[in-house]
Amino acid sequence: MGATGAVGETIVRVLEERALPVRELAPFASSARAGAVRFRGAALDVRATSAEALGGFDVVFFAGGEDASESYAPALLERGSVVIDNSATFRMRDGVPLIVPEVNAGALRAEHRLFPVANCTAILLCAALAPIRDVAGLQAVRVATYQAASGAGRAGLDELRAGERAVALDQAEPEAAVFPRRLARNVVPQVGALDASGVSGEERKVREETRKMLDLPDLFVSVISVRVPVRTAHSEAIFVRTERSINVAELAAAFQRMPGIVFHPDGIVTPRDVEGSDGVHVARLRAEGDAERREFALWCVGDQLRKGAATNAVQILELLLAKGYLRA
Ligand SMILES: NC(=O)c1ccc[n+]([C@@H]2O[C@H](COP(=O)([O-])OP(=O)(O)OC[C@H]3O[C@@H](n4cnc5c(N)ncnc54)[C@H](OP(=O)(O)O)[C@@H]3O)[C@@H](O)[C@H]2O)c1
Repeated sequence: MGATGAVGETIVRVLEERALPVRELAPFASSARAGAVRFRGAALDVRATSAEALGGFDVVFFAGGEDASESYAPALLERGSVVIDNSATFRMRDGVPLIVPEVNAGALRAEHRLFPVANCTAILLCAALAPIRDVAGLQAVRVATYQAASGAGRAGLDELRAGERAVALDQAEPEAAVFPRRLARNVVPQVGALDASGVSGEERKVREETRKMLDLPDLFVSVISVRVPVRTAHSEAIFVRTERSINVAELAAAFQRMPGIVFHPDGIVTPRDVEGSDGVHVARLRAEGDAERREFALWCVGDQLRKGAATNAVQILELLLAKGYLRA
């Protein structure tokens, strides 16, 4: 559901790339379109979404926003379908796991049928924090994010492209509609609506979901989310205080052991380097000159449409199959 959007299109691609045992794939969107989705060399018709039409599938991926998940997912769960949902609707519900397979595969149990996919920024952050938690404990995390335009879906990407075009041609730039300010040649320190205490929706999700995924409900997490004129892949500057003393070499070894992490002991890595790939890249790891050796800084980059959304969603299905909780 949402197969014509930024995440939905990527889910279809990842299902094909990873050769999931799909017998029938049915793309849904808000309206029907002939031959609009390609899967295994065929052009598939996109169907208009309705509760009846979605019924009868073993697994339904949602990539269409809060309203659609809220309206359609409960009936599908009652019918016994597995629901893997990229919206925020069910993420913080008690008893609902928030799975990043490299981090907390053990939290997935046989009775689970509803799998929210966590916020894209939070998934990348958790992948980078989990090895530190495991070897030194985590006391506090501070993060500044640099989030790509496609994090706001197709409309966000289109708005950035239109702005870039206008700037390049020296024409009048269109007004900002998706973002709070024009994004071309700019950075915008607000992702989502601000609440009464000045925290944005994105910042709240990253804080709460990170605590849930790492199973550290009291972890201090401070986030500033910033939109940058990058098409795809989110970056994060992360500052941590560990519970126990550790050195950079030991932390580097922990990153090197962690599945899904691409550790760069030297040099830098940028969004354009990682676009289209599944790894969570960590670079610029260093101690922050503290005698106790408990303060560290690092840089993390990942394609938020893939590991931050579609790939993680498909990995959840792979995990269900591998554990035998869903039969191919
Ligand atoms: N973009 C990201 O980086 C990212 C990362 C993680 C999670 N997410 C989440 O993933 C979901 C999809 O985001 P996106 O960025 O892919 O959005 P998008 O590019 O705007 O695509 C939205 C898709 O959902 C369909 N849709 C919207 N409302 C619908 C409805 N009521 N009924 C049926 N179909 C509907 C659209 O169909 P039409 O084409 O017919 O309009 C389109 O296929 C959102 O919940 C978002 O928060 C996004």
